[in-house]
Amino acid sequence: MSSFVIEASGLSKSFGSTHALAGVDLSVRQGESLAIMGASGSGKTTLLHCLAGITRPDRGTVGFHSGAGRVDVTALSERERSRLRREAFGFVFQQGLLIPELTAVENVALALMLNGMPRARAEEYGAGWLAALGLAGLEQRRIGQLSGGQAQRVAIARAQVTGASVVFADEPTGALDSATSSDVMGALLDSTVGQGRTLVLVTHDAGVAGRCSRIVDMRDGRVVAERVPA
Ligand SMILES: Nc1ncnc2c1ncn2[C@@H]1O[C@H](COP(=O)(O)OP(=O)(O)O)[C@@H](O)[C@H]1O
Ligand SMILES: [Mg+2]
Repeated sequence: MSSFVIEASGLSKSFGSTHALAGVDLSVRQGESLAIMGASGSGKTTLLHCLAGITRPDRGTVGFHSGAGRVDVTALSERERSRLRREAFGFVFQQGLLIPELTAVENVALALMLNGMPRARAEEYGAGWLAALGLAGLEQRRIGQLSGGQAQRVAIARAQVTGASVVFADEPTGALDSATSSDVMGALLDSTVGQGRTLVLVTHDAGVAGRCSRIVDMRDGRVVAERVPA
């Protein structure tokens, strides 16, 4: 029996006359790795943002299940959604969105400090996650002094450090060459589903999607197919 961590139903979202989402039902199981695929403009990012409480859909609901029960994400205020994102979710984007003025360990520790952890302890945890992602010794480097793959591992560490139950990744390997992409995808899977967490990932790359436990395909704001990789 699998339990759902996120249940979305009837999601619609328009930007002016563009129907970015046109009625999406999608449930995410606890502990799965779900890849969302589809052509550019098919609504992948909008769906991810609705699931993660970044964007409020025009219609439909998103339920999030945790130890504390079910939360209707779509009914929360902006402030409550921002707290949910900080405490329960982790995010990895294509370019990492790391802060270039900060060191690797400071970037990771910042996520904990935003939740109220004192700096020294946050940096200790941060260094632990960097080590887990193969970056021991690079804690004091600024982001510009890291390779693309190393920087993406810092972003992954930052997404994990708060103990997020769901990690959302939008084209996390989109800017990497194929060998680095494969390494980073391995690190992302190990640190999420490998720890019993859930991963929801948007990708164009069939190789990346093929390492997930389930794939959904989007077209014109709808989920049009669902499959399990061979
Ligand atoms: N903030 C926005 N303002 C206007 N149009 C948007 C916005 N976000 C997305 N769109 C449009 O909605 C559609 C779906 O976009 P998106 O979800 O980003 O697709 P994908 O991630 O699959 O490329 C596209 O036509 C896009 O141009
Ligand atoms: Mg996108």
